[in-house]
Amino acid sequence: MTVDDPFHHLHDEDYARAFLRDMARAETLVTLAGRETTSLDGEWRFTLDLFDEGLRQRWFALDEDPPSQWATPRDYEIEAGDLVPVPSCWNVLKPEWTHFEGGAWYTRWFDWHPGQPGERVMLHFGAANYVALVFLNGTPLGGHEGGSTPFCLEATAHLKPGRNRLQVYVENRRRADRVPMHHIDWFNYGGLYREVALVRLPAVFIRKASAALTTEGTAIRFAIELSDRVDGEAIVEIAELGLRASLPVTAGRGELNVPASPARWSPSSPRLHAVRFIFDRDIVTERIGFRTVETRGTAILLNGEPIWLKGVCVHEDDLELGKVTSDADIRRRFRHARELGCNFLRLAHYPHHERVAMIADEEGLLLWAEVPVYWAIDFANPSTLADASNQLSELILRDINRASVILWGVGNENADTDARLAFMVELARTAKRLDPSRLTAAACLINRERFAIEDRLAEYLDVIGLNEYFGWYEPDFSGLDRLLANSRPGKPVIISETGADASPGHRGSGRVLFTEDWQAEFYREQFRRISATPYIAGLAAWLLYDFRTERRQTGFQRGFNRKGLLAEDKTTRKLGFFTLAQLFATLDMGAEDGDRQRS
Ligand code: GCU
Repeated sequence: MTVDDPFHHLHDEDYARAFLRDMARAETLVTLAGRETTSLDGEWRFTLDLFDEGLRQRWFALDEDPPSQWATPRDYEIEAGDLVPVPSCWNVLKPEWTHFEGGAWYTRWFDWHPGQPGERVMLHFGAANYVALVFLNGTPLGGHEGGSTPFCLEATAHLKPGRNRLQVYVENRRRADRVPMHHIDWFNYGGLYREVALVRLPAVFIRKASAALTTEGTAIRFAIELSDRVDGEAIVEIAELGLRASLPVTAGRGELNVPASPARWSPSSPRLHAVRFIFDRDIVTERIGFRTVETRGTAILLNGEPIWLKGVCVHEDDLELGKVTSDADIRRRFRHARELGCNFLRLAHYPHHERVAMIADEEGLLLWAEVPVYWAIDFANPSTLADASNQLSELILRDINRASVILWGVGNENADTDARLAFMVELARTAKRLDPSRLTAAACLINRERFAIEDRLAEYLDVIGLNEYFGWYEPDFSGLDRLLANSRPGKPVIISETGADASPGHRGSGRVLFTEDWQAEFYREQFRRISATPYIAGLAAWLLYDFRTERRQTGFQRGFNRKGLLAEDKTTRKLGFFTLAQLFATLDMGAEDGDRQRS
C-alpha cells in the first residue's frame, strides 16, 4: 500500500510514531527571564479531533485554498473551526466540550520579519495538557509530553518573511502509562492552557542561568549553560551588592562561587535582588531571593532557624477558567492562605503556573512543588519513568531561581512495590542532582502492619510527607494517636494532606459527615494530636478550595471534592476556614515561625 493511495490513512494505525520522534525535553528549555518576547496569545482557530484524523490525514500540510478550489474533498477547514482564546481549557468553553478527551487543533497566523544575521527563533509554550505537537507552515517542529511543564521548539529554519501559520495539536487522553495515569482525583482539563510566545535569540544564547547561596551561606553559586558547546567568558552581576564577576565558560557550561552576604530572603522579609547573566550579546535578568533551607534532626531550617510550616494545599482549578490561572487568581489564593495564617502552600499535584513561585517570592510564602506521580503509576515502564523524570527536570529548571520553592515533591500516595521504590528513588536522585539546594519529599504511605510512619522510600527523601485522614476516611482519631505514638521517623514529617468534606451551608452537630460543623471539629481533633508531636514540622490542610473531580457524585458533591475551606466560588468561607485560622494562630511561634513550643 503506497502513501499516494488516497485511502492510505485508513489503514495505518502507527500514524503517530513519526510525530513523536522530536520531543522537546528539559535539555531544550530556554529561560525567558528578563527577555523581550512576542506573545502569541489571543484568538486561535480550534477544531476537535477525536480520532486523530489530523495526524492520519496530515491536516497540518493542507493549503488554505477556499473549498471552491478544492480538487478533492477534505475533512478539515481551518476557518470552519471556532475562535477560542489561548490560553484556555476547551472543557470550560462549551458545554458539549466539557468531558472531551482526545485530540484538538489550534491554528493562528503571525507576521515575522528577519532580524540580526545568525538570529535564532524559539517558540515557548507554558504548558499544554497532555501531548502537544507543533507545526509551522506545514512542517512538524516537534512536540512535548507532560501536561504541566514548559517546553521550547526552534522555529528558525521554518519561518518565512511575512505571514506564518502556526498549528498545535493537543491531546489530553488519560492513559495508564502517563504521568499522571488515568485514575486521578482532579479534573482532566485539556488544551493550550498557558502562554505561547516567540523569542528571538542570538546565534549563541544562554539556555539556563541560576544563582543561589551555597549551603554555608557565605557565597553565591552562579551557573550558566549556553545553547552551544563553546568556550568564552560570561559576566554575572548583582548591582546592589556591587558584585560583578567573570564566569569562565567551557564547552558551553560554567559555574562560579563568589563570596557574598546578601540580605536573606524569608517570609517576613522577602528581599529579592536583580541578577544579570551576560554572555556576548545575550542578557538574562532574574529577581532572586537568597536563602538556605536544610533539615536538622526532625526540624526544617530556613536560614539556619527552625520553621514550622503552616500550610494549605491548592489545585489549579477554577469554575470559569478550569486550569488557567492569572496573577489575580494567584494573589487571591495567597490572600486566603495568609488569612488562614499560612506561611506555606503545597501546589498539588503537578507543576503550577510559573507565576505562582514568582509571586510567592515577592510575598514571602514557602512552596512545595511536585510532579503528578500520583497513585498507581506504571512504575515498571521505562518510558513512564522517562516522562516523569523529564517533567521533574523541567519543573526544577523552570523554578530553579525561586526562593519560595523549598521542597520538590516526587510522588503522592503510591503503593509500596519494588518497581515504585526504584522509580521514585530515581526521581529523588534526579532532583538532588539538578538542585542540591532544596529538599526532597513525597506523600508517603504508612506501614499498616506496624501502624507506623515507615516507607522504604523515606531514607531517600529529606522530608516525609504524610497524607492522613483519621476522622474522615478512617472514622476514629485513635488511629492517629496510635500512628504518631508508634513512629520514630528520624527526619521531619509534614502532614502533607488532612481534611474533611463540607457541603457549604450544610450544618449539623456531632459527627455528621459533609457538614461544615464536622469539618471544623475535624481540624480541632487533628490539631490536638499534631501540635503535641515533636517530629511533625508542618501541616498542609487539604485544601483551600472545592474543586472539580468526576469521582465524587453524592448529592453533597455532584462532581466536586468538597474538602475546600472555601467553596469553588473562592469566596464562600466554611466554618472550617475560621477554625483552622484559629488553630494556626494558637500554635506558639517564635520570631520567624521558629521552633514551635511543644505544647
Ligand atoms: C488523597 C489525594 C488527594 C485527594 C484526597 C481526597 O490524599 O492525595 O488528591 O483529593 O485524598 O480524598 O480528598
